[in-house]
Amino acid sequence: MAAVGAGHRLTDDARLAFESRFGEAEPPRVARAPGRINLIGDHIDYCGLPVLPLAIDRAVRVTFRRAKSSRCRFTNVDPAFGGREFDLSELDDATEPGDWGTYLVAAARKLVDRHGLSVGIDALVSSDLPVAAGLSSSSALVIAAALALIDVNGLDVPPPDLAEAMAAAERHTGTRGGGMDQAVSLMAEEGHACLIEFSPLAVRSVPLPPGWRFVVADSLVPAEKSGAAQAAYNSGPVVAREALVAIAEGLDFDGSAELTYLGLISEYGVAELLSRARAAAPDDPHFRRFRHVVTEADRVRLALAAMGQGDIESFGTAMNASHESLRDDCGVSCPELDEIVGVARAAGAAGARLTGAGFGGCAIALCTAESAPLVLEALEAGFYARRGIGAKLDDHLFLADSGPAASVVATS
Ligand code: GLA
Repeated sequence: MAAVGAGHRLTDDARLAFESRFGEAEPPRVARAPGRINLIGDHIDYCGLPVLPLAIDRAVRVTFRRAKSSRCRFTNVDPAFGGREFDLSELDDATEPGDWGTYLVAAARKLVDRHGLSVGIDALVSSDLPVAAGLSSSSALVIAAALALIDVNGLDVPPPDLAEAMAAAERHTGTRGGGMDQAVSLMAEEGHACLIEFSPLAVRSVPLPPGWRFVVADSLVPAEKSGAAQAAYNSGPVVAREALVAIAEGLDFDGSAELTYLGLISEYGVAELLSRARAAAPDDPHFRRFRHVVTEADRVRLALAAMGQGDIESFGTAMNASHESLRDDCGVSCPELDEIVGVARAAGAAGARLTGAGFGGCAIALCTAESAPLVLEALEAGFYARRGIGAKLDDHLFLADSGPAASVVATS
C-alpha cells in the first residue's frame, strides 16, 4: 500500500477540530492525497493512451482514528461542508450526486466489495486544494478516505490496484473518468512528472528539468464534473469510441485484433491515420474528437522527449497545440481559460494550456525561473485585478511545486 510514514505534527487547529468532534483518546493518524496538474495529455486517458501529470504539494487530508464499530463519521474543517455518516454494513445510494459524501461512500463501498472491511473511522477532512478547479480534489478525497479505511482495517493494497479500484469507484458516482487522477495521486514521486500508461496500468517517474516552473491559474469558472459539466464530460469517451469504430471500419482495420487507439496508431502512424481518416469520415464532431485523441497522444510523446532533453521550447509548443486542440476539436475550453492562456503566453510563458477536464477550472503555464514572476504579475494585473480578486489570490494563482504521493502518517 501507499507509504506509511512516522511522526507528523498535527497543526493545533486540526487537533482541536478533531478532538472537539471526536474526543481525546490516542493521537489520530493522517491520510494525505495530493491533487495534480496534468502537463499534457487531456481527454485521452479514457482512450487508454499515456498521459503526463504531476502531483502537486496541495492535498486533501483525512485526520482519522479507528472507530469502535463499522460506523464512519466524517466532519469537515470547512463549515460549508456539513458532516456525513454511514455504516459499512449498510451502504445505500441515498447520497446526492455531486455531494461530497457521495465520494466517501463510493470509496467505502468499493473497499467493502473487494476486501470485506468492517472497521469504521472517525475522520476530519481538510484541504488546501481548491474545489471544482480541475485539480482533482474529488479523486484526492476518495483516495485519502480509502487510505484511512485501509489503515484501520490493517489491509495491504498495492497502489496500482487501489488506483484502479478508486477510478472504478468514482465512475459509480456518474462521471466516466479515466484513471489518470487516481494513479498520479497514489504513485507520483516528488520532483518528477508521472508518465502513466493504461491496460495494464504502469507509472514511470520522469525527472523535472531544473528551472522549469508551472504557474497554475484558476479561471474562476467552476469545473463541476459531477454537476453541470458531467454530461459534456461523459460524452467524451462515447464520442471517442464511436469515432474509433467508424474510422477503423473505413480503414479496413484487421477485425480480429482488439480495436484500440494504441493499436490503430501503431498500425498506421498519426499522419497517415489522419489523412486516411479524414477521407473515411466526414468533418464532423466525431472526426474532430478523433483528431484530438491521436494528435494529443503524439504531443505526449513529443513532450516527453522534450522533457528528457530539457527542451522547454518544444515542450511549450506542444502545450500550446494541446490547448488549441482541446478548445477547437474537443470544445472543452471557455473564454476565461483562453484569456489566461493568452495573457500567460504574452508575458513570456514557454507554453500554456488548460489542465484536466476543462469546462472551467485551471490553466497552467510553463515558465523559466526568470519568466515565472512576470507571468504571475501579468495574470494578477491582467486577469484577477480586473475581476476584483486581490485578497486570497494565492487560492487562485500560484506556482505548483511537485509533491509526494499519497501516504498515511502517525501524528505526535
Ligand atoms: C478528469 C478525469 C480524468 C481525465 C481528465 C481529462 O480529470 O478524472 O480521468 O479524463 O479529466 O484529461
